[in-house]
Amino acid sequence: MQKFVIQGGRHLEGEISVQGAKNSALPIAAAALLCDGTSCLENCPRLSDVFAACKILTNLGCRCSISGNIVTVDAHGMHSSEIPEQFMCEMRSSIIFLGAVLGRMGSCTLGYPGGCELGPRPINLHLQALRRMGVKIREENGILHCTTPVGLHGARIHLQFPSVGATENILLAAVTAKGETTISNAAREPEIIDLARFLRRCGAVIAGEGTGTITVSGVAQLHGCTYPIMPDRIVAATWLAAAAAVGGVLRLRHVCPADMESILAVFEEMNCRISTGEDSICFHAGTPLYAVRTLKTMPYPGFPTDAQAILMAALCRAKGTSVIEETIFENRFRHVDALVRMGADIRTAGRAAIVNGVQELHGAAVEATDLRGGAAMLIAGLCAAGETVITEIHHIDRGYDSPEQVLRSVGAEIIRT
Ligand code: UD1
Repeated sequence: MQKFVIQGGRHLEGEISVQGAKNSALPIAAAALLCDGTSCLENCPRLSDVFAACKILTNLGCRCSISGNIVTVDAHGMHSSEIPEQFMCEMRSSIIFLGAVLGRMGSCTLGYPGGCELGPRPINLHLQALRRMGVKIREENGILHCTTPVGLHGARIHLQFPSVGATENILLAAVTAKGETTISNAAREPEIIDLARFLRRCGAVIAGEGTGTITVSGVAQLHGCTYPIMPDRIVAATWLAAAAAVGGVLRLRHVCPADMESILAVFEEMNCRISTGEDSICFHAGTPLYAVRTLKTMPYPGFPTDAQAILMAALCRAKGTSVIEETIFENRFRHVDALVRMGADIRTAGRAAIVNGVQELHGAAVEATDLRGGAAMLIAGLCAAGETVITEIHHIDRGYDSPEQVLRSVGAEIIRT
C-alpha cells in the first residue's frame, strides 16, 4: 500500500505546468469510440481513471494505447456493447460511456452505478433524456439493458438540473442520432465545451456549448482527429491552494485562467495577489491569509464542488471564520475529520462547514477519503508542522498525475513510499 510522507512548512516557489483535465479526458475518450478511424488525444494526464477508461475501450473491442501523454483510440474493431460491472465499480464516471456506446452500437448493457464516497449518484436525468431519444431501458438485478428498437432520434430535452454527466451523455448520443436535439438548462462547464469541440473536429454539428442551450444536428458518421485535452482547472486550483496555505510564489503554465474566475476570486478575497496571462497565472500567497465570508458550491460558472475540500484546507489557517456551503453533493465533508485531527477548527452542520482559522496545523497520520478530500490532506500536510503520512492515496492518483513530483519541483518535501 503506497503512502505520501510529507515534512510540512516548506514555502513553495517556482513554476508548474498544469496537467490535462481528467473531467475532459474521460468523456472525450468515450467520444472517440463514435469515430470511424483513429483519434489521438494529446495532453492526457496519466491517471488511474484514464487507464480505467482505456480498459473499458479495449474491452469493447477498440484498440487503445497510451504513450506518454498521448492516448490513441482506434474504434474500428469495436464489437461489444457491454460494460462489465467491475469497470462501473472501478470508475463511477464510466456512466459517460452509455451515450457513446448507444450511438455507435444501438444498445448498451452496463452495471447500475451505485452510490460513491460523495453520497448517492443518481442517473435518473441521464436515463430520462435517453428515453426521449428512443432508448428503451430495462433494469434487472442492478444491470441496465438499453436498446434502441427504432434507432436513436433527436429530441427536445430540458434538464431539471444542469447535470454535467447527463449533458455529456445526451451530447454523445445526439451527435449521430437522427435529427436535431436541443438541451435546455444544459451544464455550462468548460469540460462540456472541450467535449463539444472535440466532437465538432470529428465532424459533429453542435452549437451553443458553454451556454444553457445546446443544439445538436445528428450526422451519419464521425471521423477521428488529433485533439489536445484542456488544462485541469481543479488541479491548478490545488497547486494555488497549497501555495496559499504554506506561503510562497507560484507561476502556473498551461492553464486557462478564464475558466477559473470563481476560484481566483476566492483567493483574492483571501488576500492572495494574482496576475493572469492568456494561459498562465502568477500567484503570491497572502500574508496574512484572510477567511472568506461564504463559499457556496454551484454549477459553473459558480464555485466548483471539486474545489471545495481544497479551499477548505487552505482556509484552515486563514485569519477569521469562513463558512462553506456544499450544495451539489450530500456527503462531501469526509475530509473534515482528518483536517480536525491535524489541528483545524471546523464544525459541520448538514451541508455547511464553519472553519475558524488556527495559527498552526500539526502533522498526523490520515487516510485519504476520496479524490479531492485526499488533495485537501496533501495541502494540510504541506503547511502542518512536522510529519504527515497519508494512506489510501489511490484516491489521489485518480485525479493527480505524479503530485509528489510536481510539489517537490517547487520546494515541498514529500515522498511516495
Ligand atoms: C459532478 C460536478 C462536476 C464534477 C464531478 C466530479 C456539478 C454540477 N457537477 O459532475 O463539476 O467534476 O461531479 O466530482 O458540480 N443528479 C441527479 N440526477 C442525475 C444526475 C445528477 O439528481 O441523473 C444530481 C446529483 O445527485 C448531484 C448533482 O445532480 O446532486 C450533480 O450532478 P452532476 O453534475 O450530474 O454530477 P457529475 O456529472 O458527477
